[in-house]
Amino acid sequence: MKPAIEWQQSCATAENEQFAADLHVALARTPKAISPKYFYDEAGSRLFEQICELPEYYPTRTELALLEAHAADMVEQFGPGVQLVEYGAGALRKVRLLLDAMPHDGVQFVPVDISGSHLLAASDALAADYPRLSIQPLVADFTRPHTLPPWPKDCRRVGFFPGSSIGNFTPEEADTFLRLAADELAGGGLLIGIDLVKDEATLHAAYNDAEGVTAAFNLNLLEHARRVLGAEFPQDGFEHLAFYNPAHCRIEMHLRATRPLALQVGGEIYAFDEGETLHTEHSHKYTVDGFQAMAVRAGFKPGKVWTDVNGWFAVLWLESEGGEYSPRGTAGPTRACGS
Ligand code: AVI
Repeated sequence: MKPAIEWQQSCATAENEQFAADLHVALARTPKAISPKYFYDEAGSRLFEQICELPEYYPTRTELALLEAHAADMVEQFGPGVQLVEYGAGALRKVRLLLDAMPHDGVQFVPVDISGSHLLAASDALAADYPRLSIQPLVADFTRPHTLPPWPKDCRRVGFFPGSSIGNFTPEEADTFLRLAADELAGGGLLIGIDLVKDEATLHAAYNDAEGVTAAFNLNLLEHARRVLGAEFPQDGFEHLAFYNPAHCRIEMHLRATRPLALQVGGEIYAFDEGETLHTEHSHKYTVDGFQAMAVRAGFKPGKVWTDVNGWFAVLWLESEGGEYSPRGTAGPTRACGS
């Protein structure tokens, strides 16, 4: 067997073992709840791409419009000579808007993602379009301590975390991530996209689209378990449930049992009462002030904020303490990072 195929297969085995272990814990606890990361097998990733195109799902197009309109201003905050680290890199679509606004000679780009095969494919595609850019993909769980490639002392490390993905963290996880980022970006900063608190009807529609794509995305979590873990449950045993929980400023997604039923996986049987749910996702909505306060507690200093006319989405620049570069000051010489 070729080493690359062997590596991919052993990663898949390890991922499925972790999924099995986490699913057992999720189904044994009360209330039942699992990490949203298990949405994203191949089918789930495709469904998420479709969600991003839905008329009801405003976050993706709103953030893209902000990046398109303000990339030059955003990049000005970074300063010259940057190691740009994208957390949870995915398809590397949004970062292109930033890269198009900066000189590639002075930039090292480090996309970080846990899914090695997707990361390497996306990095190869980016390298083909940006031949002068230094790209150093890192396969890692960015929510845990990891080691970034070294970079020259006079370059700044800048993080990029678009997509309002931080909304899918619990407040404790968000705090842990921000502290970790503030630490590894010391002297630089973080450009982050957040979804803002808004009227409930708009939020409800975004997670209950007319075509049922979000429902299919949610239900795919158990279909994923059926495919890779041999989970058994009635085909029409679960339905999509998504609602805004104002007490926690978050959309909650659940899979609700349509009747009393049993879900079997790995030799264990888990009973669901009619109406009982498996909680699959939080999607926290923030105010700019509330998010900045959380960032300050983690060690950042709030900088510029870009929002759309409706005030639905925001991209925030957060300066990490220890930074000496002033975006309005005189720029030093540009040099390649990590070279
Ligand atoms: C990836 N994440 C920011 C999306 C969100 O809006 O929370 C995931 C999603 N869930 C349902 N629709 C989209």
